[in-house]
Amino acid sequence: MVDLSLMGAHAGRMNSIERRSWLGKHLRIGQEWLYLSFEDCRATGVTEEDIFELTERSLAAHGREEVEMPAKIGLHPQPDSLMHAMPAYAPSEFACGIKWAGNFPTNAERFPDLVATSAVLILNDHESGLPLALMDACWITEVRTPSVSFVAAKHLADPDATTFGMIGCGIQGKAHVRMASHGLPNVEEIVVYDVFESAMAKLIDTCQPLVAAKIRKAASVEDLVKSVQVIASATPIARPPEPRIRDEWVSAGQTLLLNDCHSQVADATVRRADKYVCDSEAQHRILDDYGFYPQGLPPIHAETGEVVAGIKSGRTSAAELIVVNNIGMAVEDVVVARQIFDRALERGIGIKLPLWQRTS
Ligand SMILES: NC(=O)c1ccc[n+]([C@@H]2O[C@H](COP(=O)([O-])OP(=O)(O)OC[C@H]3O[C@@H](n4cnc5c(N)ncnc54)[C@H](O)[C@@H]3O)[C@@H](O)[C@H]2O)c1
Repeated sequence: MVDLSLMGAHAGRMNSIERRSWLGKHLRIGQEWLYLSFEDCRATGVTEEDIFELTERSLAAHGREEVEMPAKIGLHPQPDSLMHAMPAYAPSEFACGIKWAGNFPTNAERFPDLVATSAVLILNDHESGLPLALMDACWITEVRTPSVSFVAAKHLADPDATTFGMIGCGIQGKAHVRMASHGLPNVEEIVVYDVFESAMAKLIDTCQPLVAAKIRKAASVEDLVKSVQVIASATPIARPPEPRIRDEWVSAGQTLLLNDCHSQVADATVRRADKYVCDSEAQHRILDDYGFYPQGLPPIHAETGEVVAGIKSGRTSAAELIVVNNIGMAVEDVVVARQIFDRALERGIGIKLPLWQRTS
């Protein structure tokens, strides 16, 4: 459970007027805003468990159509790169803002000391529109993304699954392995694969002390796919896709949790899936227009949030092959950002920076 006692101003405990009054005691709205670095965000004490629960709430709110969230628009300054503008407003959480996120997979060769994924977020006061905070959103992205995968797994994977496989052992690979037990409580074995041996070794070094399940390197993608019940992928998004998972390796009862469009999965697999679920149909239609799905999208059973909210069915039989394609939604980011912001204000974390002085 999210520890609401530490979050005095949080949703459900104050109405909008009380919330604004609380906010006004901690920040001179319109005259200053709060800057929060990666480490500041982590120092607030918001945990991975909190973020898992917040993500579940934001997905359900999206499924019930209680949020305003236009599809992302993007820039593509380098081949296979993307920068996405992601605004969202979740009234029930008083969460309003925009994330500006980039993924540049070629950084690995061009700028080896730089990560591929970056993100900052502006949080706004939903009453006046004024900016409240400028914050790092790398940590939010790192943790809310596996939270989405494993909230989806709670509803769409075999609840008794004991095996999980991770394709791609970067930031997301590690975060997924760390958090696998959230949606797969019986997981005993985790199999990992990356094109780089060193990435697999680093994941195991970092994550094995943190998880009860035994982690092993896959001999190949085929070995991984044939060894596990639930598979997640977080590899560079290729346009057009370069699928390495052959359709004949995928079997009934498996659940695929894709974070990288269909980069790794054959079109035949997504088309024969018993259920194909995606987080935002509008968003994936835009990605289709950009050329990420050259064969088009298969019929969509539901959006992830609709399943989480109980509006559409999740897994209904052990034999179903289910593919879940989550590209990430701004509502997940702003809801977590709000909680981090509130805790930072309460605990005096971050730097207050001047804004303009005009009041009218
Ligand atoms: N859906 C979401 O919400 C969401 C959020 C964050 C990141 N992502 C996506 O997840 C992907 C990974 O992000 P990251 O931050 O972990 O990046 P990263 O650069 O830290 O890790 C990517 C890893 O994939 C490996 N890799 C590359 N090609 C591979 C292949 N064919 N097979 C197996 N491994 C391969 C790389 O060696 C690297 O270790 C990106 O495409 C990113 O856009 C999605």
